[in-house]
Amino acid sequence: MNKAILFLLVVTLNAGYLSNCNAQNKPISQRVDSLMKLMTLEEKIGQLNQYNDDWLATGPVTLDANKKEQIQNGQVGSLLNCMGTARTAAWQKIALQSRLHIPLIFGQDVIHGFKTTFPIPLGESCSWDLDAIELSARTAAVESSASGIHWTFAPMVDIARDPRWGRVMEGSGEDPYLGSKIAYARVKGFQGDKIGETNSVIACAKHYAAYGAAIGGRDYNSVDMSDRLLWEVYLPPFKATVDANIGSFMNSFNDINGVPSTANSYLLRDILKDKWGFKGFVVSDWGSVGEMINHGSVKNEYEAAEAAINAGCDMDMESRCYKNNLVQLVKDGKVSMSTIDDAVSRILTKKFELGLFDDPFRFCNREREEKELNNPEHPKIARDAARKSIVLLKNEGNLLPLSKNLKTIAFIGPLVKAVKENKGFWDVEVPGVDSGYIVSQWEGLEKKIGNHAKLLYAKGCNIEGTDRSGFAEAINIASQADAVILSIGERRDMSGEARSRSNIGIPGVQEELLKELLATGKPVVVLINAGRPLVFRYTSDNAPAILYTWWLGSEAGDAIADVLFGDYNPSAKLTMSFPLSTGQIPIYYSHFNTGRPAQNDDNRFYTSAYTDLSIYPKYEFGYGLSYTTFKYSDLKLSQNKMKKDENIKVSVTITNTGKYDGEEIVQLYLHDLVGSITRPTEELKDFRKLMLKAGESRTVEFAIDKEKLSFFNKNLQWVAEPGEFDIMIGASSRDIRLKDRFELVD
Ligand code: GLC
Repeated sequence: MNKAILFLLVVTLNAGYLSNCNAQNKPISQRVDSLMKLMTLEEKIGQLNQYNDDWLATGPVTLDANKKEQIQNGQVGSLLNCMGTARTAAWQKIALQSRLHIPLIFGQDVIHGFKTTFPIPLGESCSWDLDAIELSARTAAVESSASGIHWTFAPMVDIARDPRWGRVMEGSGEDPYLGSKIAYARVKGFQGDKIGETNSVIACAKHYAAYGAAIGGRDYNSVDMSDRLLWEVYLPPFKATVDANIGSFMNSFNDINGVPSTANSYLLRDILKDKWGFKGFVVSDWGSVGEMINHGSVKNEYEAAEAAINAGCDMDMESRCYKNNLVQLVKDGKVSMSTIDDAVSRILTKKFELGLFDDPFRFCNREREEKELNNPEHPKIARDAARKSIVLLKNEGNLLPLSKNLKTIAFIGPLVKAVKENKGFWDVEVPGVDSGYIVSQWEGLEKKIGNHAKLLYAKGCNIEGTDRSGFAEAINIASQADAVILSIGERRDMSGEARSRSNIGIPGVQEELLKELLATGKPVVVLINAGRPLVFRYTSDNAPAILYTWWLGSEAGDAIADVLFGDYNPSAKLTMSFPLSTGQIPIYYSHFNTGRPAQNDDNRFYTSAYTDLSIYPKYEFGYGLSYTTFKYSDLKLSQNKMKKDENIKVSVTITNTGKYDGEEIVQLYLHDLVGSITRPTEELKDFRKLMLKAGESRTVEFAIDKEKLSFFNKNLQWVAEPGEFDIMIGASSRDIRLKDRFELVD
């Protein structure tokens, strides 16, 4: 065949592919195939390369002199940390100058809000309110998608049982059942009805996997665990995101049992893509491909790229190992074209689903951005989420709620007038957008009662350091007040990424300040602001009232004031155990009985107890008080024997026995008494959050099926074994109100 005819054939074929690629009525899979037939190897590899924009760095930065040219030449498939319709449109215009005009996908850490900041996820998880949690993710998706973002690196679904680890603030605590429910809700919130709506973003399950089990609670540290523990505790929330049809995953930095997650084919291919059938794409964490050299699992970037792409990591965030080595790896036969094509098609499929080939600027509508970033409904949603996240830890003598008729209130502490601290870690600073409308704690109090009460303020001390010079002023104003509110805790950057702490006490002299204020004899309410469970023995033993206020976001001040003065009755319950001391860590409720269980703090003789401290946390998983009280009664089981194809109906009556309307989180725990392997003494298997008016009773129903009795046996089979089970209905994992037993029979 002569060259002219060949040329004509190629041109005709290409024209056919191009028309297919652009044909909106064609299935996306066909459009992807058509486009890929036109792409060179270099252009394909460009889609696997993600760069950081130049504004904001969330990792160690590599500077590129010619980033713009690389994008123009189709050598970059995605940018992160690029926000706003103007800036994303500008980069998109440059990307569309490439030969095949393939649009960029823009990713951003929209972890707990965009312009409107919601409570940090760990705080929000304490609401146990799946609808509210979904709504906050939905609101974040509406704002970020209006600002040019296509894809959020959220939800973070890492189970965490070590509060020394700073990233506990990003997750949903220690329990796989609750963590899975919350993960599902957040994905639904971010992705909406389907990927491609311009008010939705692609979600990203991270950090896959077991990142929260870092040894010593030190960020990025190694993880060593049995596959059984991995499957039973750390994988379920990730599986829940796949069930929610999540569009992407992010591998974690850590190695698991010696294999870095970035190149862990067991995780990425065997489990995620094969067993779970995940069709989205996997992005590495920042630089994690290249960091395998530090891990010592590869010798150089060439080997790093080979290991990661072959294991199933589709996109390389910021390391440049793919960009610099994949062409050679393909030429050397170390990486097959089918591997490259699989990664590229996964990424292009999401770009087509987003509609970016039909309109690359469909997320760049300036009017919509203006409207949604100033939507008056969003602060209301944030305030509701914030109120529902506040945990009432102590309320001696029903000091709370405070009366609105108090004449003088002293509001003391280093966080009273802080503004941005309330945003916590992983907030988003939207360039050019005023994020200063955060309601400080002081402002919240002023708005609540400032028009008729005298409000006195003193900082008292700093968050860190030993300077006590502010104590005198604080004591002075406390002496003049009818009540004192003390707001103490961490700085917001003391938790988050690379913020592990070896000592999780309240820093500085803040608890000494509390001691001085208590000595005035005035009633003191303590607010503790933090991104993790802290240890605060003096405060918990001596303060009459304690609210754990986490970092509550844009509406912090109003939400705190609502709870302080009873306009909202606190309903949150802890999703992570609060240790009595750092020495108890790791500490979590769902533990095994051991051969010498330390059932209580008295029998330490040859039992699994400490000689110098209780084994129990200060505040347990599922704990949280209310301004009212609840009675649990009439636990009924439809039967006390069930076959594997049956289920047991459980009912229990909850009565609000106090004088405030309030919400209660009723928890159902199971204990498999005898198994082919040891089973935890209790596992959360269901819960209900219900509002009851003062004096109101309601019967709550649960169903126990085989699924709730199943676990991974030593061969990693998901089984329910015949035998007896205890069912426990509780107001927390330790406050078990009603108990019964049933048997699973063959
Ligand atoms: C960071 C974090 C990850 C984040 C990414 C992009 O290092 O580990 O959670 O999504 O880089 O900012």
